[in-house]
Amino acid sequence: MKKVRTVILGMGRMGRTRYDAMKRHGGYEVTAVCDTNPANLAGYQEKTYTDWKKCLDESEADAVMVCTFNVTIPDIVCYALDRGYAVFSEKPPGRNLSDTLRMRDACSRAQNPILKFGFNHRYHNSVIEAKALLDSKILGDVVCARGVYGKAGTPAFQSEWRNKKEISGGGIMLDQGIHMLDLMYYFMGKFTNIQSTVDQLVWKDMPTEDSAFSILRTEDGKVASLHSSAIQWRHKFSLDLICTEGFISLNGLLTSTMSYGEERITYYRKDLECRTGGLGKPVEHTMCFDTDESWDYEMKEFYDAVAEGKPIRQGTIEHAVNLMEMLEGIYK
Ligand SMILES: NC(=O)c1ccc[n+]([C@@H]2O[C@H](COP(=O)([O-])OP(=O)(O)OC[C@H]3O[C@@H](n4cnc5c(N)ncnc54)[C@H](O)[C@@H]3O)[C@@H](O)[C@H]2O)c1
Repeated sequence: MKKVRTVILGMGRMGRTRYDAMKRHGGYEVTAVCDTNPANLAGYQEKTYTDWKKCLDESEADAVMVCTFNVTIPDIVCYALDRGYAVFSEKPPGRNLSDTLRMRDACSRAQNPILKFGFNHRYHNSVIEAKALLDSKILGDVVCARGVYGKAGTPAFQSEWRNKKEISGGGIMLDQGIHMLDLMYYFMGKFTNIQSTVDQLVWKDMPTEDSAFSILRTEDGKVASLHSSAIQWRHKFSLDLICTEGFISLNGLLTSTMSYGEERITYYRKDLECRTGGLGKPVEHTMCFDTDESWDYEMKEFYDAVAEGKPIRQGTIEHAVNLMEMLEGIYK
């Protein structure tokens, strides 16, 4: 198996998650790890750096994983692409649309234009099943959706880097709601008509929102409502997809803490003649998942692009630009 020599920038939660997934994959060789906080580099056998530029200048690697704070993502991504690295970057693709467009420019002039963003939720098993169901058309066409993605908050929520606008670019909608928006975009297409209210309902002293409510409409008339919340006071993930011939519901999401609950997908077919159950209560089909393989699927796709020249399927720069255009619409 060809080794993809990789450096990881940012060894916080996501850097460690990517490191572990790359080790499980077997095709990556992590050559260096970098973090501005040296405490986060303790225990690694690889070469360590506290300066990302020095790390990229000195490393003879094929690829870079960018797992730093949002504010540094565009500078690092552009610098790495200009130096011929294949780049995997965490979401969001910058703090705003102009950050994303900068990265698109860098990608279009790169000699090795491999750039993938970590829209990890597309690789969850319940989401993969939902996409297969929709593509099969056995439930007809999706016409509308209702999504809620909520966080419990933490004692230090207000002071986390995520809620410092100059570092993160936005609040809960940019941090977490973007995943739900991405899934709706994946299942329904691009939303061109956007109404929203973005508020600080409880965390009044924060510079970023704790709640965003959006009504989204595609050019061909599909409608979605999205509620992104940092004041749910427990973790919650729920996405309903209403189709012309049936219904799909995704509930819970596997994470290391299991705090979003068991991941399950339920679907049923429209049954007005009661072929499968009573009126109003058709037979339901449910699948539950107890292993989170999303990080592994995602690292495999990136490896296949770098080592074997296969195309990036999810998290492309075009996809990132579309998402950030929609996000900008929500914030406006
Ligand atoms: N794909 C997903 O599902 C997902 C989930 C969580 C976070 N994220 C994204 O991953 C990124 C990191 O989030 P996290 O939860 O790991 O945060 P974190 O705070 O746990 O880790 C970030 C790390 O980056 C380091 N860092 C910051 N600036 C740096 C720089 N200039 N050079 C080197 N290191 C630097 C910090 O010291 C810290 O250790 C964010 O962009 C976040 O939005 C993605």
